Amino acid sequence: MHIGIIGTGYVGLVTGACFAEFGVYVTCIDRDERKIKSLKRGIIPFYEPGLEELVKRNIEKERLLFSTKIKDAVSTSLAIFIAVGTPPRGDGSADLSYVEEVCKEIATHMDSYKVIVTKSTVPVGTGKKIKNWISKSLKKKVDFDVASNPEFLREGSAIEDFMRPDRVVIGAESPQAIAILKDLYRPLYLIETPFVITNVETAELIKYASNSFLATKISFINEIANLCDAVGADVHVVAKAMGLDKRIGPKFLHPGPGYGGSCFPKDTMALLQLARQHKVELNIVDATIRTNQKQRSLMVEKIKSRLAPLKDKVIGVLGLSFKPNTNDLREAPAVYIISRLMEEGAVVQAYDPVATDDAKRVLNNVKFKKNAYEVARNAHAIVLVTEWNEFRNLDLKRIKKAVKEPNFFDLRNVYDPERMQELGFNYYSVGRSIKSQ
Ligand code: UDX
Repeated sequence: MHIGIIGTGYVGLVTGACFAEFGVYVTCIDRDERKIKSLKRGIIPFYEPGLEELVKRNIEKERLLFSTKIKDAVSTSLAIFIAVGTPPRGDGSADLSYVEEVCKEIATHMDSYKVIVTKSTVPVGTGKKIKNWISKSLKKKVDFDVASNPEFLREGSAIEDFMRPDRVVIGAESPQAIAILKDLYRPLYLIETPFVITNVETAELIKYASNSFLATKISFINEIANLCDAVGADVHVVAKAMGLDKRIGPKFLHPGPGYGGSCFPKDTMALLQLARQHKVELNIVDATIRTNQKQRSLMVEKIKSRLAPLKDKVIGVLGLSFKPNTNDLREAPAVYIISRLMEEGAVVQAYDPVATDDAKRVLNNVKFKKNAYEVARNAHAIVLVTEWNEFRNLDLKRIKKAVKEPNFFDLRNVYDPERMQELGFNYYSVGRSIKSQ
C-alpha cells in the first residue's frame, strides 16, 4: 500500500518512518525545502532515539520518500495522513489554518478514492470541516472518506509507542475507510493490540480526554506532594500504595515541577476551550491547568526559601528539556524556573545532555556548561529539573566539593533524602517532607 503523510514534524516523521518499517510505501511531505533536503539524506531535525536509523533504513529500502509537493503524495496514495501543526491561538483553541490549507491542496490533486486521516490532534468537529473543505476544492467528482486516527506518541519513546501501542483508535464512518486503516496497522494484530473503532468525533475526543486525564493525574499527585511536605508524609509511598489499586494504576503519579511539552499544556487548554464553546463545565481540567502553573512557581518559592535574596547567587541547573530523551523545550519547567530566578538577579549556569543548543536560542544570559560538574562549580545551589539518566548517578562527592554551598533542589526526586543528608547536602525534594538539615 502507498500512503502520504503531510507535515514532517515530530508526529508526521515518526508515523511515516514507522509505517515504512511495517512495509508500507510512504511519501512524506513538508513545505520546508531545507528540511526535506536534509531528510532525504537521513538527517533528522530533532532528537528522538532510534529515529535516524529507522529513517535511513527505509530510505535505503526505497519505502520512504520525501518531497515538498503535496501532489507527489496524493496520486499514488490510498490514505493521506494530515500531521501538520495545530498551534494554540491566544484563547487556547487550536489554529486549524494549516489543516485547511493542506486539505484544499490535497483536493485539487485528487482523482481517485482516498481516505483523508487526521493524525494531528484536532478539535472535535474538525473531521466535518475537512469534509467540507475537500468537497469544495475538488476539481472533479471523486469519492473520499475522512477519518481520525490520533497518535499517542511520547517524545523520547515514540517508536516503541508506535510499534507497541496500548491501543489504536480509528474514527471513521465508512467500512471502506475502516478496512484501509485496519489493513495499515495489520502488523499490530500479531501483538494483539486492541483496536477501538468509532465515529470521527469520538476518536477526536479520545485524544484530548486521554491527555487531559494524564495531566490531571500529575497535577493531583503534585498537590498531594505539597500536602505531604506540610504534614510530614512521603509522597512516593502514598503514590505507590495508591497505584497498587488497579482502578488507579501506578503510572503518571510521579511528582515534580509540573508537566510540560508540546501536548499536555496545549491539549488541556484546547479541551477547556472546546467545552466553553459548548457551554459545558470542565472544572477538573481547569483546576489541572491552574495547579500545573502553580507547581512551577512553587518550585521557585522552594529555592527562594533557602537562598533569598537571589541577587548574584549562582544557581546550577541540571536538565533543560521538558523531560529526558528529547531536545524539546516547549513549556519546559526549566525555562520558566530559570527565567524567574534570573529576573531576581540570580546567575544561572546550566547543562543538558541534548537540549543545550536549543536552549541557547530561548534563554539569554545563561552560562551553558559542558557537564554537571562544571555546573556545580561555585554554585550556591544545584537544581535538578530534568531526570536525564546521567543525572541519576552523579558523583555526589565531586559535586559537593565543587559547590560553594551544598544546597541541592531535586525537583524530580531522583536521590535518596537520607543519603543526601549524610553526604552533607541541604537536600530539598518534592513531597518527601525533608526541607533542610
Ligand atoms: C504526551 C502523552 O503521553 C502522549 O500520549 C501524547 O500523545 C503526547 O503527550 P509527551 O508530552 O511526549 O507525551 O510526554 P510524557 O512522557 O507523557 O510526559 C509529559 C509531561 O508530564 C512531562 O513534562 C513529564 O515530566 C511530566 N510527568 C509525567 C510528570 O511530571 N509526572 C509523571 O508521573 C509523568
